[in-house]
Amino acid sequence: GRRSETVAGIPVKQFSLITLTLQNSALILVMHYSRRMPPVNGLRYFASTAVFLNEVIKLLISLTMALWDVAMRVPTNTPATALFENLFYAIFTNESWKLAIPAALYTLQNTLQYVAVSNLDAAAFQVMYQLKILTTAIFSVTMLGRSLSSRKWVSLLLLVVGASIVQLPATPAPTGMKSLREPGSGLSFLPRSLEELKKAGSHAAGQLVRRSASYAGIQEDQGMQQPRMNSTVGLVAVLISCALSGLAGVTFEKVLKESSTASASLWVRNCQLSFWSLFPSLFIGVMFVDGEKIAKVGFFAGYNWVVWAAVLLQAFGGVVVSLVINYADNIAKNFATSISIVLSCLASVYFFDFDITRYYLVGTSVVLFSTYLYTKPERGSAEPSMVAEFE
Ligand code: C5P
Repeated sequence: GRRSETVAGIPVKQFSLITLTLQNSALILVMHYSRRMPPVNGLRYFASTAVFLNEVIKLLISLTMALWDVAMRVPTNTPATALFENLFYAIFTNESWKLAIPAALYTLQNTLQYVAVSNLDAAAFQVMYQLKILTTAIFSVTMLGRSLSSRKWVSLLLLVVGASIVQLPATPAPTGMKSLREPGSGLSFLPRSLEELKKAGSHAAGQLVRRSASYAGIQEDQGMQQPRMNSTVGLVAVLISCALSGLAGVTFEKVLKESSTASASLWVRNCQLSFWSLFPSLFIGVMFVDGEKIAKVGFFAGYNWVVWAAVLLQAFGGVVVSLVINYADNIAKNFATSISIVLSCLASVYFFDFDITRYYLVGTSVVLFSTYLYTKPERGSAEPSMVAEFE
């Protein structure tokens, strides 16, 4: 049946899509800022700890909501212990194991996202990451049995073109940044276009580091070390993230939509997903990958308010994404996040002195147009507009 829940008078579906657009714009900016700012006490935070904390916070939010859900369904005088019993029974039954698959995929995706964001500038990452619309569509067709018209496939190809245009040469950076083609920089093999793109990105990152230094009250220091961006690493990380995004999202959607809603609420599903995510993020990320270093400098080394803001924003975002996948689908989710490119691009101009080039504008326009074409209803369809996609 059609759901009629509303938030502040707005249907949950539209509300969750709008919230996702805003959250995603903010998240990319904060994540980029958190990886590029000067290290806290000379230390840079471990991405693995951030991914793990993200899961812990999401689990706490989901447990609270699931408990609320249980409490609403029983008589008011039910003892708290009975509520907890109900909740834990719901979480550890209902084919809980099925959520272990998207949990593992999402954990890997979240880790790679940190790698990509640290090695690419915010806007380039954002636009390239839109390739996940393609992977999501492929997995929606193959795993959920959806069918896509040829117009929809054409718009997907346009999307690839749009994302590529963004990589065309940018105007040279106005500051005297060191050339990235410099021998020994490891980037001399790059095609000119990508090199130019990186130069613009480094300019933005340079501005960003200077600004974060002044926010932190640190004296501006020309010799300040910042980690060098490696665009090849960033590129590979973002491409694998795209594949994982589609696969993880569709796997989660499959569990939500192929089990009867009566068997487990969305909040119980989120508890199950977070529960299973704790293991790979703790054992693989925190202990195996970074364990040795964390043992030396501590779990919270390099944390400051910016890092906490990134972690909280991502945990909140995960909750919003689950609402969108439940009330709409993964494809609508991608539409919401591609609108956030425009917002984060605009915000980058303001916060990071980012130069918007013609190529960014054209590329972003093509990406947004293809997204419009994708969501446009079929000819002869009764649905009047793009908005119908979200109803
Ligand atoms: O980039 P993409 O849209 O695939 O990212 C989805 C994000 O939402 C991931 O970071 C994932 O961890 C999060 N998520 C979540 N809970 C869900 C579904 C997704 O935290 N139920």
